[in-house]
Amino acid sequence: MSTILLAGGAGYIGSHTAVELLNSGYDVIIADNYSNSCPEAVRRVEEITGQSVKVYELDIKDSVKLETVFSENKIDAVIHFAGLKAVGESVDKPVIYYRNNIDTTLSLLECMTRYSVKNIIFSSSATVYGEENPVPYTEEMKRGTCTNPYGWTKVMMEQILEDAAKADKELSVVLLRYFNPIGAHESGRIGEDPQGIPNNLMPYVAQVAVGRREKLTIFGNDYDTPDGTCRRDYIHVVDLAKGHVKAIDYILRNGGAEIFNLGTGTPYSVTEIVDTFEKVNGIRINHVYGPRRAGDLPESYANADKAFKILGWKTEKTLADMCRDTWNWQKNNPQGYKS
Ligand code: NAD
Ligand code: WQD
Repeated sequence: MSTILLAGGAGYIGSHTAVELLNSGYDVIIADNYSNSCPEAVRRVEEITGQSVKVYELDIKDSVKLETVFSENKIDAVIHFAGLKAVGESVDKPVIYYRNNIDTTLSLLECMTRYSVKNIIFSSSATVYGEENPVPYTEEMKRGTCTNPYGWTKVMMEQILEDAAKADKELSVVLLRYFNPIGAHESGRIGEDPQGIPNNLMPYVAQVAVGRREKLTIFGNDYDTPDGTCRRDYIHVVDLAKGHVKAIDYILRNGGAEIFNLGTGTPYSVTEIVDTFEKVNGIRINHVYGPRRAGDLPESYANADKAFKILGWKTEKTLADMCRDTWNWQKNNPQGYKS
């Protein structure tokens, strides 16, 4: 049985991926400093799967502490989720973002070299396509110009990992470019639990629905899109998690260096998200239209053909599933894991 280290595995995408890996027969170890998560998320992963997860509470930047994870376990592959991810905060605190996101990557690579761990999967983002590339995005497009430090950390980490793979022919690197993950596990036991005011659309909608926020502001309705609001490629987090299992199967079997978009290939507008959430859940989402948000692109969506062709992965869940599962999580956990 192969053992997978999830760096940042207590977070939103990591916890859902842990469930799918455990259900597929992999052993899972989580290393996390809980800077944007909590031990309860891991406890619930164990509850859902009926399996136990070894956890190390540590800062992955701290390569001395990180080394204990590698010396105490035989790790077959690493999935690197550990990063700070708030776009607006990255503009105000760029040094903290560069330090955390780049250093976690370097510490992991150093430990992997020392302990001959040859497989790493990295949580990248559609944001690396930047402003220049036309939609739908395909993997061979050049990385573009980002509008914020968070995006640049992803561009830089992709470059670092590609350079490491070029230098060490035995090192396999898979870069997964996520589009817009939303939704929650259908049990309603794990989900997205943002601290403070949510930056992203779906958690904001969910908090309006549960009465934690008064109203949603839709950022701009004068874009050159069918209904004037921005369009994104929203992907159910469980589909995304299953994409990681396929990527792990692939990297352990074939190795190599690859990039995959993980998206549905179908864009939905902000208005369509609000309408679908209202319809599926029978709840009204109080909303107003406001000015555009700086840095937003009118459209972002994937060409997801490569992941289907090579990994045999495609999304299965609908936008209605995403809205229903988000609400199931939020209404059962109105204050997130603190509920
Ligand atoms: P998250 O914040 O829920 O999870 C990240 C986890 O990493 C958290 O548990 C946090 O405590 C941990 N972490 C951060 N820095 C750490 C450090 N120095 N040491 C140890 N642990 C640390 O975020 P998520 O939504 O699950 O995202 C996971 C990854 O996917 C991130 O790298 C993010 O940038 C990337 N990504 C997310 C999205 C999205 O919309 N959620 C989209 C594209 C890419
Ligand atoms: C979606 C749409 C907003 C909030 C970000 C990062 C990206 C990746 C995913 C991490 C946009 C609109 C939002 C609100 C709104 N993250 N919106 N009112 O900006 O596509 O992507 O998260 O890696 O890198 O940039 O996602 O959920 O913030 O916004 O109208 O209160 O919803 O303008 O059109 P985005 P989002």
